[in-house]
Amino acid sequence: MNSPKIPGRPARGKLLTSHAIYTYKYLRLPLSLQRHRMRWLSRLVLVVFSAAFFVFPLAGRSQALAQTPPMGWNSWNHFHRSVDDATIRATADAMVSSGMRDAGYVYVNIDDTWEGQRDAQGFIHSNSKFPDMKALADYVHSKGLKLGIYSSPGAKTCAGFEGSLGHEAQDAQTYAAWGIDYLKYDLCGLREQMKAAPSPEAAHKIMIDAYAKMRDALRATGRPIVYSLCQYGEDAVWEWGASVGGNLWRTTGDISDNYTRMSDIGFGQAGLAPFAGPGHWNDPDMLEVGNGKMNDEEYRTHMSLWAILAAPLLAGNDVANMTGDTKAILMNKEVIAVDQDALGREGDRVYAEGPIEVWSKPLSGDALAVGIFNRHQKMLTAHVDFAKLGFSGGVQARDLWLHKDLGALPAKYDVEIPAHGVLMLRVTK
Ligand code: GLA
Repeated sequence: MNSPKIPGRPARGKLLTSHAIYTYKYLRLPLSLQRHRMRWLSRLVLVVFSAAFFVFPLAGRSQALAQTPPMGWNSWNHFHRSVDDATIRATADAMVSSGMRDAGYVYVNIDDTWEGQRDAQGFIHSNSKFPDMKALADYVHSKGLKLGIYSSPGAKTCAGFEGSLGHEAQDAQTYAAWGIDYLKYDLCGLREQMKAAPSPEAAHKIMIDAYAKMRDALRATGRPIVYSLCQYGEDAVWEWGASVGGNLWRTTGDISDNYTRMSDIGFGQAGLAPFAGPGHWNDPDMLEVGNGKMNDEEYRTHMSLWAILAAPLLAGNDVANMTGDTKAILMNKEVIAVDQDALGREGDRVYAEGPIEVWSKPLSGDALAVGIFNRHQKMLTAHVDFAKLGFSGGVQARDLWLHKDLGALPAKYDVEIPAHGVLMLRVTK
């Protein structure tokens, strides 16, 4: 039986949107009730807008940090235990005068050995090398730079200084009060607790909980602090690093200033690309460019590979005393642009022919960064096959080290690559 049709009302059976239902009901209400509802409606709108503008951005704060891989400098690779207040000030000055800051290197990070004793209340103090951490942070900030610091979830750091175990909230508060912008949190001392755990699973949980604890402590301060996990890539950290708040996580043991170690680490990153993205990056460790034990060809390989990997670019040299070649490598804006590309995609190996490896990284604007690496100690001819890189024919290419457009390259392109060297291209159709 057909139901009677009410004038002005959609026929039964016809789909009503919730909006239509609301309008229909609303128009039939007496005027006083309509006003009452309007008041509630406007209050609701106000609450939703306030949440959107104030509450949600706070909740997602850690996500808004490190939208591109963090760039800066860290004291460890060059200065090791000798870093002090004067080193940091001189480095900050040099970051500005050399152009490093303007090239994107903004974090000035103090690594291990700054830690002093805790006071009677348990608050950490810096040791005599750093007489006034707050004043140092103010100085670094006055240069348009940010200050990073280091600690461990264990009782001791790797160099045997005071760690944060049992003092996480206090330490985070202290860092925030000093004006710290970046924390590298290095597993070391926590191994003691992990070794005593009854099973590998229990040991893993101790580590995860410790990293999550410092994440919560940092968040509770309300200060945006980049959170760098350092546990050398154990337990597939790339799978869970983001879930404990990591903006970056070390994927390997320590780098050193030689080609074998650097290349083992860099080329060993194949396959990790899916785990990186804006706010959370794989970290194959800090740069050695300029520390003197590799030649410039090898340092160009280091820089190119790290850029293709969308790796954090933390210079590890003496910035106040850089050669022109070191400056040209660290401040190659075209290579930095590959690292910092807004797509936020990490690159990967596409293919290898013996010691020739071809890597690519998708870039915004339908472009591709392509690194053609020679891992051999003699010059070799690389056979570049652009079909394997996803192109249907020849390509347009730019050489990012020569800063030169190469024009059209054929679909199959043979090119000589120097020993331990690289041809770094930006390629479009
Ligand atoms: C570990 C880290 C290094 C450095 C030292 C400091 O080895 O991996 O990067 O921070 O500790 O002690």
